[in-house]
Amino acid sequence: MKAGAAPGEIERRTPSLATIQGLVHDVLDGVIAHMSRVLEADVPFINEISFHLQQMRGKLFRPVLLSLCNRIEEDPDEREISLGSVIEIIHLASLVHDDTIDESALRRGMPTLNSKWDHKVSVIMGDYLYSRAMSEITRLGDLELIALAARVTNDLTIGEMVEIAHHRKLVEDPAQYFYLIEKKTASLVATACEMGAVIGAPRHRDMLAAYGHRLGMAFQLVDDLMDYGGEQSVMGKPAGSDLKEGQATFPLLAVLPRLSPVERHAVHEVFRGDSGASQAAIERVVELVHERGGIEATRRIAAEYADRAREALTLLPETPAREVLDAAVDYVLARDR
Ligand code: FPP
Ligand code: MG
Repeated sequence: MKAGAAPGEIERRTPSLATIQGLVHDVLDGVIAHMSRVLEADVPFINEISFHLQQMRGKLFRPVLLSLCNRIEEDPDEREISLGSVIEIIHLASLVHDDTIDESALRRGMPTLNSKWDHKVSVIMGDYLYSRAMSEITRLGDLELIALAARVTNDLTIGEMVEIAHHRKLVEDPAQYFYLIEKKTASLVATACEMGAVIGAPRHRDMLAAYGHRLGMAFQLVDDLMDYGGEQSVMGKPAGSDLKEGQATFPLLAVLPRLSPVERHAVHEVFRGDSGASQAAIERVVELVHERGGIEATRRIAAEYADRAREALTLLPETPAREVLDAAVDYVLARDR
C-alpha cells in the first residue's frame, strides 16, 4: 500500500516505508515520546546528547516489527510502546558504540557523538542508553522479556567483536560471515519480533522469531550489496566503503573462488596493512565483484532468506499485521532499488 492508498491495498513488490509503518503509526508516535521520557536525566549534558540522538532518528523498523508481531492475533498488548522503546534504545546504543569503534564522522547525515563530542562521551553515552533500556524493561517485571534483552545485547557484542577480529583480514569462509551478520543484525530483528510475540501472540513465538531472523539476514545481505553500489554499474561511482574499512562481506566472498591468481592477489592487497588501500585498488575489487556476479549471488541468498521469512508467516492468522509483515519482506529486498 503506498502512502494514501486504501487500507488493505498492499502493493506487492515495492512497498514504501509508509506502508510498513502505516498500521502501527500511532504506536510509533508513542515510542518516540516514550523514548524521550526513558532517556530523561537530571544532568543537562546527558539531555543535550539525547536531544542530538533524537534528531538522528531512523526508520524505527524494529519497533514497527515488534508492534506488528504483537498484533498478529489482533489483540495488542499495551507494553508494545515500552518494549519498542527498549529495542530502539538498545539499537541506538549499539550504533553509538559502533561509530566510536569505526571512528565514523556521520550517521544518518548527522555528526556522530564521537565527532560532535569525543570518544569518552560516546562510550559512556552508549552505556547510559543501554542501562536506561535495561531499567525500562525491568520496570515491566517480566523475566522472560529481560532475558531476551540480555541475550540480544550479548549477541550484538559478540557480533561486534567478531567484526573487530576480522578487521583488515580476508576471512574467506562464508560461514564466518553468516555467523557475524546473524549476531550483529539478525539477532536484534529476531528479538524485536519475538518480544512482540511474547506479549501479543505467544503461541506464534517461534515462527515470528524465525521470521525476524530470516528478515534480518536478508536485510544485512542487501545492506552489504548496496555498499557495492547495488545492481547499477559502479564504474566511476564511489562504492566499496566496507572494503575501505577492511571488511570483507558476502558480495566479495562469493566471487573469490572465481578469481584468477592475479585477481586474488589484487584483493589480498586491499586487505594488507593498517592504512587501507588506494582508491584505484578498491575500485578494481568493486569492479571484479560486479563482473563475476557477486551482486547477483548476494541477491540470490537474500531472496532465499526472504522466501523463508515469508514461509514463516504462512501458518499465522491472516490479519492485516501479517499482510504488512509480508510486505516488510519486499521492502527489505527492494531497498537498493
Ligand atoms: C553496525 O554495523 C553495528 C551493529 C549492528 C552492532 C554493533 C554492536 C555493538 C557495538 C555492541 C553493542 C553493545 C551494547 C552494550 C548495546 P555496521 O558497522 O555493519 O553498520 P553501519 O555501516 O551502519 O555502521
Ligand atoms: Mg559501522
